[in-house]
Amino acid sequence: IMETGTLQKFLEDFRMQNKAVFILGATGETGQVLLREILKRNLFSKITLIGRRKIEFEEEAYKNVHQEVVDFEKLDEYASSFQDYDVGFCCLGTTRSKAGAGEVEAKIEELNFDRYTIFRPAVLLCDRKEFRPAEWLTRKFLGSLPTSWAKDHSVPVITVVRAMINNLVTPSDKKMELLDNQAIHNLGKAEDSTQP
Ligand SMILES: NC(=O)c1ccc[n+]([C@@H]2O[C@H](COP(=O)([O-])OP(=O)(O)OC[C@H]3O[C@@H](n4cnc5c(N)ncnc54)[C@H](OP(=O)(O)O)[C@@H]3O)[C@@H](O)[C@H]2O)c1
Repeated sequence: IMETGTLQKFLEDFRMQNKAVFILGATGETGQVLLREILKRNLFSKITLIGRRKIEFEEEAYKNVHQEVVDFEKLDEYASSFQDYDVGFCCLGTTRSKAGAGEVEAKIEELNFDRYTIFRPAVLLCDRKEFRPAEWLTRKFLGSLPTSWAKDHSVPVITVVRAMINNLVTPSDKKMELLDNQAIHNLGKAEDSTQP
């Protein structure tokens, strides 16, 4: 477990580097919370959302957020949209049955990033607007169980997002890191004193 002071120093060091980030899937449950949290912490000097549609934001905090609309079926034609970024977050969502487990992770390895982290949360706890019956049932079920058991089988979206941010700002020599649900809980609960 990281100490508060250490994490805060990492956050400050990171902020000083004025990095540019793109986010895929910023309209999704995880992506929305991630965008909100990185804006709140003022972590990047440039933020671009890359998606298949444009989002309308009303809040002042979002006024400097750039957006690029791309066709995900023809990504080769949009290579320039992904250039000149230091960091990329992928929060694209699909169900495991649609995606094919492990397939995405294998493809990411081929891309040869300097450093990347794969997050493997269990059931995400969020207030999804779209109704997904299987998720709803799982949540009802988890809610009726002892908290320790629920913790092994679910994780709040905000915890995942905090883990993503804490992982990002923490220097590492490892080229690849894989965080399972337990690791996400541990890293995501690390105290963040920059929060009000
Ligand atoms: N929900 C869970 O319990 C759970 C559990 C474990 C792991 N995960 C994984 O965690 C990740 C994020 O989950 P989430 O619940 O935050 O996702 P989500 O709310 O379903 O968000 C989906 C995002 O992906 C985009 N997207 C989906 N299909 C696309 C396509 N064909 N082309 C372009 N964009 C597409 C959506 O864009 P539009 O707004 O344009 O549709 C949206 O931004 C997913 O990979 C999911 O499999 C989820």
